[in-house]
Amino acid sequence: MKSTAPVNATALAAAATSLYASSHAAETGSVASILFVDQSGQLGGAEFSLLPLAVTWAAHREVLLLSDGPFRAKLEALGVPVRLACDTRVSGIRKEAVHLNWLMALPGVVRQIRTIARHAEAFDVLFLNTQKALVLGALGKPLHRRRIIWHLHDIMSDDHFGPLQRFIVKWLARCAVDHVVANSHASAASLVALTGCKPERVPVVHNGVDLDEFSRAGDADVNALRRRLGLPEQVYLAGLFGRLAPWKGQHVALEALARLPELHLVLVGSALFGEEAYAESLREQAARLGVGERLQFAGFRDDMPAWMKAVDVILHTSTEPEPFGRVIIEGMAAGRPVIAAAAGGVKEIVRHRKNGWLVPPGNVEALTEAIDILHAAPELAQRIADQALIDVSRHFSVEAYLEQMRRTIGKVTG
Ligand code: UDP
Ligand code: GLC
Repeated sequence: MKSTAPVNATALAAAATSLYASSHAAETGSVASILFVDQSGQLGGAEFSLLPLAVTWAAHREVLLLSDGPFRAKLEALGVPVRLACDTRVSGIRKEAVHLNWLMALPGVVRQIRTIARHAEAFDVLFLNTQKALVLGALGKPLHRRRIIWHLHDIMSDDHFGPLQRFIVKWLARCAVDHVVANSHASAASLVALTGCKPERVPVVHNGVDLDEFSRAGDADVNALRRRLGLPEQVYLAGLFGRLAPWKGQHVALEALARLPELHLVLVGSALFGEEAYAESLREQAARLGVGERLQFAGFRDDMPAWMKAVDVILHTSTEPEPFGRVIIEGMAAGRPVIAAAAGGVKEIVRHRKNGWLVPPGNVEALTEAIDILHAAPELAQRIADQALIDVSRHFSVEAYLEQMRRTIGKVTG
């Protein structure tokens, strides 16, 4: 995996801090201190969503990570204090195979519950950002007795989670979590269905994107940009951004690539959470389909605005309902037309033919046709991309996200 040097880190820290400081300086005194807990050292969407919040939180705050990785470096480069509480047995537990693994990892689980509880005592609020953080942080509530906010980034359906995980989450959400914030109405609805709680108990705050970061990445000459990034020039190029994982559906894009002989495709992202076998299967699929020459695996990249601006069209191909889909709002902020799988939180972002193009998840024919239509009609593609840029700046800016998160957390912490 490529290292994650803090590109634009200082600028982000300065911009984000000044944004928070200028609009809320007067309230700083009443802001609760927060211990943010995240299970991952990797840079996934939940971590990118936590980043600006942790950077700009005006009171005492710290991030406790249950695994080490580039997320720690990024947080530290932005001035956020980080603590590690790693246990490889516990971090090795995968959500699909939760039962046996939990039992084997029990001593580590107990240790981590205690560690989180001990750290939490120095803060007003425990902010749990991932599933494992929720379980370990909430189970320790009798020890730390802190208010718990859970940032729900997942659709709690049985497509995504096993019965035991859903059972545990249901009871912890009911009994130990004080407040939930969901990343989309789709995620919120899944929690309401699971727990039977009232919908108003699960407020929704959509993710936001730093629009300045995208406007700074120049796109005057796309071919020069492609040359710099090692991408093919003078061809119609699609980009798919995100970790390589079966439910992200990169295999669907490869099938479409095979049906469109003029198309080139770049996959940006790596197997972050142990999905190396899937990454390998994509390479085999590409060889089988004979599309290897028109396909590039770029690996994990730290400069998404440039990579997104280097392509003609952005694909989102998740085969399961996407809880939110940061890559979609990023693609919109890059001023590129986005073709997205119409399920979950995606439908709260994309309006078909207006600011993007929706296709049924996993439908190769529909994806192929959508790419073909936008390729053949550049004015339509441009109109959609222009509207996308307007919509993303109206509804999905990082400023709006921070403001809503701040207000929501402020309300619950009094
Ligand atoms: N991302 C990145 N480099 C890559 C691939 C992805 O920085 O090579 C980022 C991407 O910009 C986005 C996040 O990873 O902010 C993925 O978030 P998303 O919500 O789309 O999906 P998740 O992986 O969280 O399900
Ligand atoms: C999760 C979801 C993704 C969402 C992100 C940020 O990782 O899979 O859809 O965009 O969280 O909320």
